[in-house]
Amino acid sequence: MTRKPRSVDDVRAAIFAAADLPLERAVTLPPEAYVDPGFFQLEADTVLAGGWICLAHVSQLKAKGDYIRLDLLDEPIVVIRGRDDEIRVLSRVCPHRGADILHPVFGGPNEGNEKILVCPYHRWSFEADGALKGCPEMDRAEGFEKSDWRLAPFRHEVWEGFVFVNLSGDAAPLAELYAPFREMIAPWRTAEMEVVIELKWDCAFNWKIMVENWIESYHHLGIHHTTLNPSMPAATTWTDEEQGHFIRCHLPFTPKVGAEVAEAARTGDAMGGFAPVPGLPLDRQTEWGLYLGLPCFMFLTARDRVIWYRLLPQAADRCALLTTTLVTKAAKDAPDYADVLAAETKMLSDFHMEDMQVNAAMQAGLKSSKVVKGRLSHLEQPIWHVQRYLARALSEGIAEAAQ
Ligand code: FES
Ligand SMILES: [Fe+2]
Repeated sequence: MTRKPRSVDDVRAAIFAAADLPLERAVTLPPEAYVDPGFFQLEADTVLAGGWICLAHVSQLKAKGDYIRLDLLDEPIVVIRGRDDEIRVLSRVCPHRGADILHPVFGGPNEGNEKILVCPYHRWSFEADGALKGCPEMDRAEGFEKSDWRLAPFRHEVWEGFVFVNLSGDAAPLAELYAPFREMIAPWRTAEMEVVIELKWDCAFNWKIMVENWIESYHHLGIHHTTLNPSMPAATTWTDEEQGHFIRCHLPFTPKVGAEVAEAARTGDAMGGFAPVPGLPLDRQTEWGLYLGLPCFMFLTARDRVIWYRLLPQAADRCALLTTTLVTKAAKDAPDYADVLAAETKMLSDFHMEDMQVNAAMQAGLKSSKVVKGRLSHLEQPIWHVQRYLARALSEGIAEAAQ
């Protein structure tokens, strides 16, 4: 029997119903949650605009004027370090007539350094803090004050070295939402680390497909059975109790690999990777710490690095992904750094290729009329946490919109 497409209200109701089930009876979300443009718009206005989205790490914006251009939902954005050394998140929309001042049609790079941003249309120019600097031939515009016109700022926070934006402007501070998360990752001192690998991926799938793929490790025994499963078997992964605004999973190494790591920790050996992060407790070195800062901050700790995936949702079936690796400054001075970097870049790409395949396959399957309500393994507990967050964020967002 063919399934009838649900309305946005019905999709929402099905998400609430799924989120209410106990873990032992957990089911998949309705397929429309991944493919329907109307539902994506609701989600964009509530879950995504109302949450904190990670855009950059401070090490990507080292010098005054360094900027990153990106698009999030319908917002053209530039993240830029000002003359005062502050990083800001600004709209690229020109306050004159509304052009995107750094639109890709102008041929500029996605990252660069500009002390002054100039709108190519009529050459209004802006300081890196957004203030209007120059505006030709505006002296006869009555009542026009330069100080009234600027690139609009978005609310942002720098949390542990990561620059986040909150489009709605009314989310609770990250210091509050991610407080226990911060304590868990504090030993890595991520504000002092540096992004050394960046790989860009255009993803023809829904942002939740990526998030779910990131946070469940059940699929180690499937698509990663030769890459990750031998050292971190799916069956021994486990998830912390539900926390409101982030999810934490543990990916312990096998006893054999764990013993090798313990020995390496004793001798300070890098085991062929980057120089280890100093001062990590042993039990944090013998597993990968997998986190999801809700809604979509994907973060992983290992003994010599952290991995961060930047996810920018764009449409129901499209998101832009940047997969990165951060290491300590000291690790960059190791004599074999260049070789390790090349090998680890390949590793990051190789296992993500496997994820890209299954994510594309999911999006294709979810468009079908034959999709059924699936059941989840206990190893997919983090997906159930995502569902419960989604239900909360949707209901809060909808309640606010009604006020
Ligand atoms: S639209 Fe930017 S200067 Fe006119
Ligand atoms: Fe994966």
